[in-house]
Amino acid sequence: MSGAPGAPPLSGKAAIVTGGSRGIGLAIAALLAERGAAVVVSGRDADRLQSAVKSLDGLAGRVVGVVADAAKHDDADRLAGAAREQLGRLDILVNNAGITRDGLLVRMKDDDWDRVMEVNLRSVFLMMRAASKVMLRQKSGRIINITSTAGAMGNAGQANYSAAKAGVIGLTKASARELAHWSILVNAVAPGLIETDMTAAIPESARGALLAQVPLGRMGSPREVAEMVGFLAGDGATYITGQVFHVNGGLYI
Ligand code: NAI
Repeated sequence: MSGAPGAPPLSGKAAIVTGGSRGIGLAIAALLAERGAAVVVSGRDADRLQSAVKSLDGLAGRVVGVVADAAKHDDADRLAGAAREQLGRLDILVNNAGITRDGLLVRMKDDDWDRVMEVNLRSVFLMMRAASKVMLRQKSGRIINITSTAGAMGNAGQANYSAAKAGVIGLTKASARELAHWSILVNAVAPGLIETDMTAAIPESARGALLAQVPLGRMGSPREVAEMVGFLAGDGATYITGQVFHVNGGLYI
């Protein structure tokens, strides 16, 4: 289903972006809506979600906020259901919600491991399963999972996060093989050091040390990640599945 001639490239498409009330998720929701997609944005905090949705008012595609915890089974099903009911279909799923709970392996608490796995990996499985059921019937779809450089190269102090993000890469590759039969394309985007609230929480000295390893010599912007997601969601990416795209200024080559 594509838009009328001259219409924005994603008009007629319906998308879900998890954790879209700020940072990279918000930039992705904005870019998809600018290109004409109708977007359901999820987040846990109703007030923050409402102001995010308001900030996206007036773009080509309409944006709807749904309060949902991506790591909860019922919420994932409800979110996919909301897209189907409110937008009539589901073409694009962006699994963006993520958290960090950093610490050295020897001191890491069970709860820090479990929560990071739940939000960063289990949530991706839950959302992909719920969304795939809709996309299977349509015999088309794009799933884009936000992983991390940490999932490819490992980060000291982030054993839980690196393991979860590496898990997202495995999940992306396995499901790309399974879902290709229904023309559902599954890819991952791995950002490096991007300027958001998540990286603002990294102590200045650690951030400086990371930045020193970035050949382009600067942090990336959420928009620069969103551009890759927009490409993978669009008509230029019809023969791409099971891949990981790094947006990292050369941090990991
Ligand atoms: P952020 O902390 O600014 O935003 C994360 C969003 O996810 C927030 O809106 C938060 O409320 C939401 N969220 C967290 N847990 C949730 C849950 N259980 N259910 C629903 N929403 C939830 O982070 P940022 O930087 O925008 O990160 C977005 C994604 O990009 C994450 O998956 C993160 O791991 C990944 N990433 C970020 C990098 C960076 O340098 N900022 C680098 C590599 C990956």
